[in-house]
Amino acid sequence: MDSHRKLIPFLLLFLIQLLSSGAEARHLLRFRARKLFVFGDSYVDTGNTMKADSSAWKDPYGETFPGKPAGRFSDGRVLTDYIAKYLRVKSPSPVPYQLRESKPEHVKYGMNFAFGGTGVFNTSSPYPNLTVQIDFFRQLIKIKVYPETDLNGSVALVSVAGNDYSYYLHTNGSIQGFQSFVASVINQTTRNLIRINELGVKKILVSGLQPLGCFPQITFTSSFQQCNSTFNALVDIHNTLLNQAVAKLNQLAKDNSTFIVLDLYDSFMSVLKHMSLKPCCVGVSSGFSCASADDNNVKKYSVCDAPKSAFFWDLLHPTQAGWHAVYNKLRKTTALQQLHYH
Ligand SMILES: *[C@@H]1O[C@H](CO)[C@@H](O)[C@H](O)[C@H]1NC(C)=O
Ligand SMILES: *[C@@H]1O[C@H](CO)[C@@H](O)[C@H](O)[C@H]1NC(C)=O
Ligand SMILES: *[C@@H]1O[C@H](CO)[C@@H](O)[C@H](O)[C@H]1NC(C)=O
Ligand SMILES: *[C@@H]1O[C@H](CO)[C@@H](O)[C@H](O)[C@H]1NC(C)=O
Ligand SMILES: *[C@@H]1O[C@H](CO)[C@@H](O)[C@H](O)[C@H]1NC(C)=O
Ligand SMILES: *[C@@H]1O[C@H](CO)[C@@H](O)[C@H](O)[C@H]1NC(C)=O
Ligand SMILES: *[C@@H]1O[C@H](CO)[C@@H](O)[C@H](O)[C@H]1NC(C)=O
Repeated sequence: MDSHRKLIPFLLLFLIQLLSSGAEARHLLRFRARKLFVFGDSYVDTGNTMKADSSAWKDPYGETFPGKPAGRFSDGRVLTDYIAKYLRVKSPSPVPYQLRESKPEHVKYGMNFAFGGTGVFNTSSPYPNLTVQIDFFRQLIKIKVYPETDLNGSVALVSVAGNDYSYYLHTNGSIQGFQSFVASVINQTTRNLIRINELGVKKILVSGLQPLGCFPQITFTSSFQQCNSTFNALVDIHNTLLNQAVAKLNQLAKDNSTFIVLDLYDSFMSVLKHMSLKPCCVGVSSGFSCASADDNNVKKYSVCDAPKSAFFWDLLHPTQAGWHAVYNKLRKTTALQQLHYH
């Protein structure tokens, strides 16, 4: 009897949920990805960089979630966390590769190989580029941490190229050379996507490039008033070529939902229409940035009163609120639906 009484509220709750959001509930009933594998940069890294040299492991990063610095480049959740939630992988977010031994029970739900600062090519970051990240994955398949047959029903999330372009513009900067550099970035990205597919992952989500011209790093020259259209035009070249390359890959795969582009450009832009371009966490003066401290460990940054109302956390990364808003836009596109295995 007692057990019945306990069960009824649960059933009721379930029914209410079913009725109140039919689409959501159908999604929940139909779909659960087995594993999520993540590759790329700080947009998706959830803890692979080292504590000693990474702002993501310093205050005030992580203050919203999980409540202290924990290796995410934001005040809270990042793109990975929202995609994992959508896919309903059992573990809340895939365990970072570097922390796999401390959380062995989570390894079976997938893994995060992304390192902040990296690109498809070498950048100024000391961390492994995309090729090497995929090598780590291949090695774990080889030693049967992930037997190949076990990858059925798994999904890969790949976020790249932002750092390749920052590095290019810093070290070379030639606008004339830009087109051909984009072509080589796309070529290298394509090879990497093919490799992930050949390792056995049949659904691969690759993010399009975000509107770099709207980022605080660029817009500070206009006091965060407007996006720089020159930079956004360069981003557009990358995204056009990426979409073409992905269409070709799907033709080769004979399945137009194997490789899927996640359109960060449009989703960022439509959220930014309603939000300020001003970052929440900044250095107190030039030479300092979010998480900076002086030699006496006195903090040299300031944080806005309401990170919830800011889109940008620092010069390069969205807040949790920003990512959440972007995720809500992405859910209205067909991209995420295509992750469902038939
Ligand atoms: C990636 O890094 C490895 C090892 O550091 C290096 O050998 C390789 O050339 C890099 N790949 C690309 C495409 O830059
Ligand atoms: C990438 O960096 C690694 C060292 O981190 C170096 O061994 C390798 O040659 C570099 N590759 C390219 C293509 O620059
Ligand atoms: C993978 O899953 C699909 C659909 O669930 C199934 O038809 C197929 O046989 C599976 N392949 C392997 C190698 O397990
Ligand atoms: C820099 O740009 C020039 C001109 O397009 C190009 O020839 C050169 O290979 C580029 N260098 C690097 C390191 O990308
Ligand atoms: C990348 O470029 C090389 C050399 O130009 C070419 O042979 C190869 O087919 C290209 N790969 C892809 C995936 O576009
Ligand atoms: C955009 O950035 C470029 C390069 O820094 C600069 O020359 C240009 O004036 C900027 N445009 C706007 C509209 O701010
Ligand atoms: C994929 O192909 C199917 C059948 O060929 C078509 O109905 C569908 O619209 C295509 N989807 C996309 C995203 O192109």
